[in-house]
Amino acid sequence: MGNGRKAIKRIGVLTGGGDAPGLNAVIRAVVKSAIREYGISVLGFLNGFGGLIKNQVRELTENDVAGILPRGGTILGTTNRDNPFHYPVDRSGERVFVDVSDRIFENTSIQEVDALVVIGGDGSLAIAKELYDKGLKLIGVPKTIDNDLHATDQTFGFDTALTTATEALDKLHTTAESHHRVMVLEVMGRNAGWIALHAGIAGGADVILIPEIPYNINCVAEKINYRSSHNKKFSIIVVAEGAKPMDGEVVIQRRVEESFDPIRLGGVGQVVAREIEEITGKESRVTVLGHLQRGGSPTAFDRILSTRYGTAAVNYLMEGRYGHMVCLRGTDIDTVPLEEAINGQRMVPLDSDLLKSARQLGISFGDTD
Ligand code: F6P
Repeated sequence: MGNGRKAIKRIGVLTGGGDAPGLNAVIRAVVKSAIREYGISVLGFLNGFGGLIKNQVRELTENDVAGILPRGGTILGTTNRDNPFHYPVDRSGERVFVDVSDRIFENTSIQEVDALVVIGGDGSLAIAKELYDKGLKLIGVPKTIDNDLHATDQTFGFDTALTTATEALDKLHTTAESHHRVMVLEVMGRNAGWIALHAGIAGGADVILIPEIPYNINCVAEKINYRSSHNKKFSIIVVAEGAKPMDGEVVIQRRVEESFDPIRLGGVGQVVAREIEEITGKESRVTVLGHLQRGGSPTAFDRILSTRYGTAAVNYLMEGRYGHMVCLRGTDIDTVPLEEAINGQRMVPLDSDLLKSARQLGISFGDTD
């Protein structure tokens, strides 16, 4: 840590990985506070690390960020490919992966960018850490709807995804009730069950299946039969895309080889609905919420969190706190070394209060009858 304040005249910002509601709010906060508070200029690198590698850039003025606070997506574009340390190139018709990270140092020098704000999830922040180790001054901002980043109490984007999933559950309830059906909602979250757990509780689900608690489909069927025998002719099941049976594996939808994390989960909702229908004889339907969870206008909570992260990132950069990620601790904004931030995924703890409350209400996690 040093005093980098005098050295910084221009900063760069980029958004990496999957989009999440609140990205534009962070960009806006970075640009406005850099210009207003510190009188420095801001360049936006386009399409994640791709823009840094290919020198694709645009200046960001206050005018450029006017009106973007409520907008989903990212005005800079993003990608979950383009890892500069593992970059695909064609050599004599054959695709090979090479280290092109030197180009990033050349391009930041051409653009006279002194330090970077990297907004991303674990994949982007792992790359940021490698670039920092190689000498680039930067700070990270934790983004992902999955809320699975280590060392922060919450990532921005999660609250909006959770709200979308909760609204979907409210809507599915009416069809479930009217048709006396089992309605299964599959939500995102990768290997963590945060969206499923929170939305399941907020949306009054009867069964929540999360990766942290492998399920037994017979226990889920028991719960549905029990409800039927107590005059509750419908049931709502929320399944995290990473949920798996006690004696089985996750359902993989596809592999995206150039991505930071090549596995794309998806399809477990269909499996659960089919098995439930077979065992209970009750008509069961599945809805896969998919990328709707990443879209739309950020909630007020996410707008505020994103704004706090963006302003704090600039403040800490100007203090010279490089190689860190801004984070939320309780209600305070702080920082953690990137090394700590990318050290494993944050999963739902099995002793969490939320799990206990849910069980107390009679919500099944598919592990007991
Ligand atoms: O990490 C965010 C996320 O939306 C996950 O919840 C999901 O598993 C994955 O990204 C989907 O990625 P893609 O947009 O490449 O299909």
